[in-house]
Amino acid sequence: MSGGRLAGKVAVITGAGSGIGRASAELFAREGARVVCADVSGEQERTAAGIGDAAVAVHADVSVSADVRNAIATAERRFGRLDVLFNNAGIGGPKRPITEQDEEDYDRVLDVNLRSVFLGMKYGIAAMLRTGGGSVINTASAAGLVGWRKNALYGASKGGVVQMTKATALDFADQGVRVNALCPGMTWTALVPAAKDGAPPPADGFAPPQPMGRWGLPTELAAAALFLAGDESSFVTGVALPVDGGYVC
Ligand code: NAI
Repeated sequence: MSGGRLAGKVAVITGAGSGIGRASAELFAREGARVVCADVSGEQERTAAGIGDAAVAVHADVSVSADVRNAIATAERRFGRLDVLFNNAGIGGPKRPITEQDEEDYDRVLDVNLRSVFLGMKYGIAAMLRTGGGSVINTASAAGLVGWRKNALYGASKGGVVQMTKATALDFADQGVRVNALCPGMTWTALVPAAKDGAPPPADGFAPPQPMGRWGLPTELAAAALFLAGDESSFVTGVALPVDGGYVC
């Protein structure tokens, strides 16, 4: 489409094979963006195929430097530029007290959730500066803002994303690059075991402890990501935006 709130923009979205990333890729494309759909699962192919010519799928493990650089290079090669980088891929990791966490789990959760954001911003912002700037969105979590039981590794990774976002926003505020974090509350995606089969949230099942008394939907997170991606948020940088049904207020 020629119009839309992201008309003319090129986006890389990680974790685009599922959940928030897939909903965002679909919404960004509907709003006129061309989208590089990156994921490690293979499902990015399905997301990109559903979008059509405005999308390309890239296999990328976001904890691997060469894969992240390839996703960004694909945006520049195929579409000529990078305007929006949505560092969204993430994993939950095991839910246990820290005394029962394995060192391997620490490395994996921190690599996928935080090293990925470092790599994405290191190479993605360099690409944005070549064409005058852009917008970075990093998916943190409500669990990066407040403590959750048995969640030390994930919480540390997402708290790290929040602070990496804020420092980087300051470093590039006067160079045309905005950097913000999205902090989802409990959202009905494959990250939630009961949602893995694609079932809708149960009307009478477990309601998360969010004041609105319901799960967030991937489309609701995508709508917030769209705001941060586009020019409507042109004076917004360094923000960690909770989209969580009131959980952290
Ligand atoms: P999801 O499981 O539906 O999607 C995550 C995607 O990331 C999957 O497609 C997966 O294949 C991909 N991924 C995992 N490891 C990867 C790697 N090493 N390289 C590339 N891709 C990888 O889950 P959801 O909920 O859409 O997750 C998106 C983000 O939202 C994550 O960062 C997650 O931590 C965050 N989040 C989710 C919440 C929820 O309740 N669903 C709450 C707070 C934050």
